[in-house]
Amino acid sequence: MASSISHSRQSHLSLIHFTLLLLLFTPFSLSTTITQEQEEKQDEADTSITRFQRYLRINTAHPNPAYSSAVSYLFSQAESLAHPPFSAFRRSHDGAIFARGAQDDKCIAMQYLEAIRNLKARGFTPSRSVHVSLVPDEEIGGADGAAKFVESKEFAELKVGFALDEGQASPGDEYRVFYADRSPWGLKIKARGQPGHGAWMYDGSAMENLMKSVEVINRFRESQFDVVKTGKALNSEVVSVNPVYLKAGLQSESGFVMNVQPSEAEAGFDLRLTPTTDPDEMRRRIASEWAPVIRNMSYELIEKGPIRDYLGRPLMTAINDSNPWWSVFKQAITSAGGKLSKPEILASTTDARFLRQKGIPVLGFSPMRNTPILLHDHNEHLRETVYLNGIEVYESLISSLSLFPEPSQP
Ligand SMILES: *[C@@H]1O[C@H](CO)[C@@H](O)[C@H](O)[C@H]1NC(C)=O
Ligand SMILES: *[C@@H]1O[C@H](CO)[C@@H](O)[C@H](O)[C@H]1NC(C)=O
Repeated sequence: MASSISHSRQSHLSLIHFTLLLLLFTPFSLSTTITQEQEEKQDEADTSITRFQRYLRINTAHPNPAYSSAVSYLFSQAESLAHPPFSAFRRSHDGAIFARGAQDDKCIAMQYLEAIRNLKARGFTPSRSVHVSLVPDEEIGGADGAAKFVESKEFAELKVGFALDEGQASPGDEYRVFYADRSPWGLKIKARGQPGHGAWMYDGSAMENLMKSVEVINRFRESQFDVVKTGKALNSEVVSVNPVYLKAGLQSESGFVMNVQPSEAEAGFDLRLTPTTDPDEMRRRIASEWAPVIRNMSYELIEKGPIRDYLGRPLMTAINDSNPWWSVFKQAITSAGGKLSKPEILASTTDARFLRQKGIPVLGFSPMRNTPILLHDHNEHLRETVYLNGIEVYESLISSLSLFPEPSQP
């Protein structure tokens, strides 16, 4: 989702390209991100581990498996999701509203509109047009939404000067702001090798070839993760690579044939490149080290979206004086009584990359502070005071940004 401020100087606030709400089709995700709340729960000795242990203690061994106990335990865990994901239950003591989308990102869609409504009611007149673009497919990659929209004639005619997209909640007093995303790549590596009896030891089986690659990839993963663990960089500032599937073995009716070494084996990885990662260097590494032909490996790389802008520059919005929008943005946050923490790269990915690819400065910002990070999590919620305050922050941002005169081209 992006709210964009265009170059044109019509004096009105218009809402265009209003399609479906972002995230309408997002499946409820059972993610296991450790959140502050979950960490607090650990103190009460109700942790993921103790819950797991309790489940394991139910004796489900044959011939007398205690399946009914297992089922009721699982139901009790499911019910511990405090509120159904689309109930929008409001907790009376602190005004927290629980729903999928409370933070990511039905909140900012409504806050944009509320802020514009309030500005209009006050008779505010912008010198630029303000457009709100709402698309339904950001969570599944944006290929049919923002990716197509930025290529359209309609988009070009807007002459967008600056845009806002989603950010993330901040557990502290300061708002967070994001000047870049990491770029997602999907990597499938496939090994071929000589099939053989399970009893033989020989060189060059598909499994052996695949395992060698998995080891090499894991070493790279550790080298990146060590930088994070030693505090030299944030998670979002290194290249991440995580195994997501393994596919091998000869299937039988009861599982797998146990005495055959298969002729093919495959693994899949989720990669996230930082904006300054050299994509050619990464492709070279994959071809020569992770899936080398010499080890009978092949690979498929799915690059999801751009990693350089139309001039070949990294997809980063400048957060210094070279970007005049940055100072307007900062100033507007200050006048709304807010403070910004150090600008960050977002560990994941948003539609902002499609606009940045066009050379348009985009900041990822969601006005949620003193709020646990719960996107895609159980019991996602947002306190109403935070929500209402966010509307005021957007009023400040939208009025300042829409009054900003044409910046001189660098
Ligand atoms: C690759 O495959 C060829 C042909 O099947 C085989 O001769 C060779 O030993 C294999 N090499 C490795 C490393 O598996
Ligand atoms: C501002 O930031 C950009 C991008 O990070 C960088 O290329 C440029 O050198 C910086 N300019 C100034 C004036 O610091």
